[in-house]
Amino acid sequence: MNITDKLGRVVKDLRISVTDRCNFRCNYCMPIEKFPGNFKFMPRKEILSFEEIELVAKAFAELGVTKIRLTGGEPLLRKDLSRLIEKLSKIEGIGDLALTTNGDLLGNQAQRLKDSGLHRITVSLDALDKDIFFKMNGNFSSPKKIIQGIETAIEAGLLTKINMVVRKNINGCQVLPIAHLGCKLGVETRFIEFMDVGSKNSWDLKDVFSKKDILQKLSADFSFIPIGNRGKSDVAKVYQSTNKKLTIGIISSISEPFCSNCTRARLTAEGKLFTCLFGRDGIDLKSHIRGGSSRSDLKKLFQKVWSDRNDQYSMQRKQLAQQTQKAEMHYLGG
Ligand code: GTP
Ligand code: 5AD
Ligand code: SF4
Ligand code: SF4
Repeated sequence: MNITDKLGRVVKDLRISVTDRCNFRCNYCMPIEKFPGNFKFMPRKEILSFEEIELVAKAFAELGVTKIRLTGGEPLLRKDLSRLIEKLSKIEGIGDLALTTNGDLLGNQAQRLKDSGLHRITVSLDALDKDIFFKMNGNFSSPKKIIQGIETAIEAGLLTKINMVVRKNINGCQVLPIAHLGCKLGVETRFIEFMDVGSKNSWDLKDVFSKKDILQKLSADFSFIPIGNRGKSDVAKVYQSTNKKLTIGIISSISEPFCSNCTRARLTAEGKLFTCLFGRDGIDLKSHIRGGSSRSDLKKLFQKVWSDRNDQYSMQRKQLAQQTQKAEMHYLGG
């Protein structure tokens, strides 16, 4: 069964945040000055249990969702995550189970994640240069450790991608080194325009290193041809190199928004359902679940929420940016 929203978009993907906590402080998400060491995250009892998450995922799968991506905060901080992955991987209809991580804890967990049924992993890596890496992520971990994590994920048999958020005047010079790393590791590498998610990352259009800038940087060493989107819900524009062995994706939410293909629902760690990455507040599913709602009740609720939806924030950014309050990325899961 498929459900469509007001603009004819079908729900296909569910992004599930399993924690709002993070061991990094990326300047585009949780800048250290706004999220200091003593920042209060959500109390444990407010967070959905694995059984509650499974209930929501099953209801969505029955409504046509085929892909689940686990996010955070940093999802690998959630205790016993592989137990959740086992549950989700057994849900009928879920053919694609993925996770987005900062990679710091990946070396120890990759094999377990794979063995529990995870298919794909995407690892954020914003610089190879140590100082620039620290500038981007707030002085945590190291590029070496993240690369080791990526290598372990590949060895474990996880389909692996790299995500790099690019900010003008900070890490634009790292686009080529990261592309060469992707080439060396045989991993699809995605470049992401810095987005105005939340209200704490001091976003400014002048700091966006655009798709055009990215392609121009890459052109020093690489030639590319566009290969089109592989799935309708892909957020990245995908290119194949014609002179080297590399596939790249560019996620250009600022310069070329893709809301017309938006097939994503988002569940926060505390059980709120968002229909846009730039939403202010979500529908409180936890109170329904803890109040005794059945899977069938939840399905009816999702159907109503999705069919009432007409979000197109990125397409309407100019009009909406001033008036919209937005949830933070570490809470919403990207
Ligand atoms: P694939 O399934 O491999 O295509 O991964 P993905 O791109 O869906 O997930 P990932 O977590 O790697 O996200 C990559 C970037 O795209 C992040 O910066 C996300 O915040 C951003 N992104 C994901 N979905 C959306 C969306 O619906 N709207 C916008 N504007 N950005 C999105
Ligand atoms: N703009 C673009 N991408 C972002 N991410 C986090 N914050 C932002 C932002 N402001 C990315 C992370 C991760 C994914 C979940 O979202 O780097 O790859
Ligand atoms: Fe943490 Fe990811 Fe946000 Fe960076 S982007 S601070 S790793 S949640
Ligand atoms: Fe979907 Fe909102 Fe992203 Fe547009 S901005 S693609 S509506 S999540």
